[in-house]
Amino acid sequence: MEEAFMQRTATCGSLRAADEGKTVVLNGWVHRDRNHGALHFINLRDRYGMTQVVVDDDASEELQKAAGELKLEYCIAVKGIVRRRPDDMINPDMATGEIEVKAERIDVLSKCDVLPFMIDEENNAREDLRLKYRYLDLRCSGMQKRIALRHEIVKAIREYFYKTDFLEIETPTLIRSTPEGARDFLVPSRIYPGKFFALPQSPQLYKQLLMVSGFDKYFQIARCYRDEDPRGDRQLEFTQLDIEMSYVKRDDVLSLMEDLFGDVFKKVLNVTLPAHFRRLSYHDAMNTYGSDKPDLRFGLEMHDAASFAAKSTFNAFTETLQNGGSVKYIVAPKTEGHDYTRKYLGELETAAKIYGAHGLAWMKAENGTISGGVSKFFAGMESEVLSATGAKDGDVILLVAHQDWKKCCTSLGAVRSRLGADLGLIKEGYEFCWIIDFPLFEYNEDEGHWEAAHHMFSMPQAEYLDTLESDPGSVKGDLYDLVLNGYELASGSIRIHDVELQKRIFRICNIPDEVSKERFGFLLDAFRFSPPPHGGIAPGIDRLCMIVANEQSIKEVIAFPKNTAALSPMDDSPSPVEEKQLDELHLIIKKPE
Ligand code: AMO
Repeated sequence: MEEAFMQRTATCGSLRAADEGKTVVLNGWVHRDRNHGALHFINLRDRYGMTQVVVDDDASEELQKAAGELKLEYCIAVKGIVRRRPDDMINPDMATGEIEVKAERIDVLSKCDVLPFMIDEENNAREDLRLKYRYLDLRCSGMQKRIALRHEIVKAIREYFYKTDFLEIETPTLIRSTPEGARDFLVPSRIYPGKFFALPQSPQLYKQLLMVSGFDKYFQIARCYRDEDPRGDRQLEFTQLDIEMSYVKRDDVLSLMEDLFGDVFKKVLNVTLPAHFRRLSYHDAMNTYGSDKPDLRFGLEMHDAASFAAKSTFNAFTETLQNGGSVKYIVAPKTEGHDYTRKYLGELETAAKIYGAHGLAWMKAENGTISGGVSKFFAGMESEVLSATGAKDGDVILLVAHQDWKKCCTSLGAVRSRLGADLGLIKEGYEFCWIIDFPLFEYNEDEGHWEAAHHMFSMPQAEYLDTLESDPGSVKGDLYDLVLNGYELASGSIRIHDVELQKRIFRICNIPDEVSKERFGFLLDAFRFSPPPHGGIAPGIDRLCMIVANEQSIKEVIAFPKNTAALSPMDDSPSPVEEKQLDELHLIIKKPE
């Protein structure tokens, strides 16, 4: 049997002045190791913190030797006596900064190879190196804090629901392929050649079936899988807090979420959220902020320029307006230390063009009039432009014209986002808002048909029931998104619970009856057996943790994420498999050309 190691009696974050005189054992990693002659200072680290261990110059030869052989990240056990540091050595930045442990014995529990990067607060190594050695990257205190924060958030969510009537129910992760919008991950069946399971994109249909079963309040912390390109706020596999309720209307779902997030933010961050979150219709959000997930931590609202742009001599404006298009503007405020140089205006234009703008027009408010850019097309109406826009000396008026209202909004919205960040307008804190009254359908230009803007199970608002087929583009759904600091945090809807209405929606989305019967037959069948009216929502846990941790990438709050190329550099997945495995699954690989 292996010799018993000296097991810790305290953690590296726990000792205080009151522990003076105690003999303790610490286990942890050598974080830093400094020598002053025969005096060794070792910063010993574990999940709980850091403690300074000292090997005095009068220590035994054996102890001196043991200390001399230590290297960074060796895993060691230290036995010693807690002593107060001299007053001038107290470190107020360390929780254990009042004390140190005078070592009496040091054992190496395991040695560490050459490190690929330093274990620090934050790891500045390139992403793939961080992910290849993720287990080491996770030792960095920043990652340790974020993973612990995620735990606190999920714990607070569970505690909230455990106080209520909600039941936590698991749903399967090997399911029928029922594409919800993204591509499915498929799992070949060994037992049934040529047949596949899919991994769920979300538990959507199962939670609706649970409503048919009578579990009228359901929640689950659910793993979801979507075969889409990873981005800053997306991963191939991610986690949702999935919720569904029977006999509810939209406002019941919104109130529940406001109460939940109020509770979680208070508990985890000691932040008091407003009892109710602001509500914006999809139209107003787009029109005013150029996004259906507006960052409301700053204003910088967009406005309609038609009243003055129509009278200009600038063809791009007048023709767009005559043809029913939109011209919108934003006033970029004069800001200390920030010049609206041509180069910078060019960068803003590039941002706008990504979203379809043909250009970004500008004019400066200067000496009580307008100058530069397109100002020459407003000759004689300078003061009208100034009073309409409210622009003051030093401000810049930025304008986008587009035939398509949505493109006009989103491209100027991209400019708004850039300005918010560049001008330092973004306030600290959390700005939640609801986006409601979304269009139910979106036209897929590539495939030439309508499709569900959210998913196909969402209820149209009652007043559109007669015009679903004749005017799909105008139909609003009983849909809602919860937005936090410019991210879509959650999506949900009141669901259809009527077979005929569900079939109508499938047909509008170009899914004929035979196909919907084959794909969604089990849902349509279930709806024959008195389904209750129901609705729900699903906040993304990874996104929530990312925002709360003030990070730009959800990888920072996931222990083992995939990289931007959808790979795991650590275990090298996805990987080829043995021929035998393929044979068992009745698969032949078609080599890419
Ligand atoms: P939706 O597809 O909008 O709705 O997803 C809900 C929330 O899940 C998070 N999310 C993601 N997080 C990380 N990576 C991804 N690839 C990813 N995709 C989505 C987001 C998003 O707001 N079944 C419906 C919910 C419902 O109607 O109840 C659904 O899944 O935070």
